[in-house]
Amino acid sequence: MKDCHNIEDLRRLAERRLPRIFFDYVDGGSNSELTRAANESDFARWRLRQHVLRDVSGRDLSTSFLGAGHALPLMLGPLGFLGMCGRRGEVAAARAAGRAGVPSCISAFAIRPIDEVTRENPDVTIYSQLYVLQDRALTEVLIARAEAAGAKALFLTVDTAVTPARERDVRNGFRNLTRPTLRQWANMLSRPSWCRDVIRDGMPEVGHARAAGFGRGVMEQAGNLARQIDPALTWADVDWLRRRWPGKLVIKGILEPEDARRAVDAGADGIVVSNHGGRQLDGASSTIMALPAIAEAVGAGLDVLVDGGFRRGWHIALALALGASAVSIGRPYAWGLAAGGEAGVARAIALLAGELDSTLALMGLRSVAALRAAGRSAVHFN
Ligand SMILES: Cc1cc2nc3c(=O)[nH]c(=O)nc-3n(C[C@H](O)[C@H](O)[C@H](O)COP(=O)(O)O)c2cc1C
Repeated sequence: MKDCHNIEDLRRLAERRLPRIFFDYVDGGSNSELTRAANESDFARWRLRQHVLRDVSGRDLSTSFLGAGHALPLMLGPLGFLGMCGRRGEVAAARAAGRAGVPSCISAFAIRPIDEVTRENPDVTIYSQLYVLQDRALTEVLIARAEAAGAKALFLTVDTAVTPARERDVRNGFRNLTRPTLRQWANMLSRPSWCRDVIRDGMPEVGHARAAGFGRGVMEQAGNLARQIDPALTWADVDWLRRRWPGKLVIKGILEPEDARRAVDAGADGIVVSNHGGRQLDGASSTIMALPAIAEAVGAGLDVLVDGGFRRGWHIALALALGASAVSIGRPYAWGLAAGGEAGVARAIALLAGELDSTLALMGLRSVAALRAAGRSAVHFN
């Protein structure tokens, strides 16, 4: 990993370490992958303002969001199947997050169950991501499990009413991995260190789905859990969840100011401006273009987090200037995990933090607080 000088280097190393079928699962988006690509390329539609001679010694990257202080304006977002990228992936990523002083959100499709993650990382801020299932009693069980594990916030993901074709996965036969073909076996066995790492203890399982009796093995369980995601969900269900969950509630998957205002009315503590990393509505706006109007619409009414395509420290600075409280990352830390386990996740965070630090200094700013206070005046549309 000593040759990894930026997130793209971690991606390339992950590509060498992961079987193609899992690399593509992480890397890919839906349909033409237009929105996935726009998430990354639309940062270039903005520019940062450079100010000089302003004493930028003694910089401070710390900030607060979702009711607590954190070392960086950053968190690890929920990633299903993270444990397929590296040994005990959810536990390792949370440990790296804790060392860096940032929170980690555990996916409903995590391989390792959330109580194991919190038990092994008692000092780390852990959030839990939820899909409301058609079976509300089972949904209650998942909420209770998050509560018992000590999750500090519940992230309700709302942009997955259906799952569109992720064409790389279709081509690779990802969903048919319950019974791997010879070609799929050959693909997995061509990565012996991954095999030793990830399937050493037998075929992984989806923590939540195993407990719910959703069959055996990661793919069958994930399929059964995914079929349970309720496409009939409405704001009334958010009201129900608000009454049910006493902790911080975050709605993940907002792209329109009108929906952001509804989230405020529903009593949410935060939203994530997100298009699911370009894995859901292909043709939807990039998140960096959607962010300014949403931040303006909700004012200081709640924490506005944003994710999608963040690969550089300056991308984070831009989002903070446009009104975000913090940025959530997905693929960058999955690549880090695949590239080097816990140390790889730590590397991904450190690279972004280092770049953010020099970006602030060169913008003539001493702290994240100063950047947030400067807001839109710190950047301009190109
Ligand atoms: C491999 C993978 C799995 C994901 N699984 C989930 C999930 O289970 N729940 C969820 O809310 N979001 C999920 N997401 C979306 C991420 O939380 C996040 O919105 C997205 O990855 C951000 O974009 P980025 O990967 O470009 O940073 C997943 C994303 C990826 C790449």
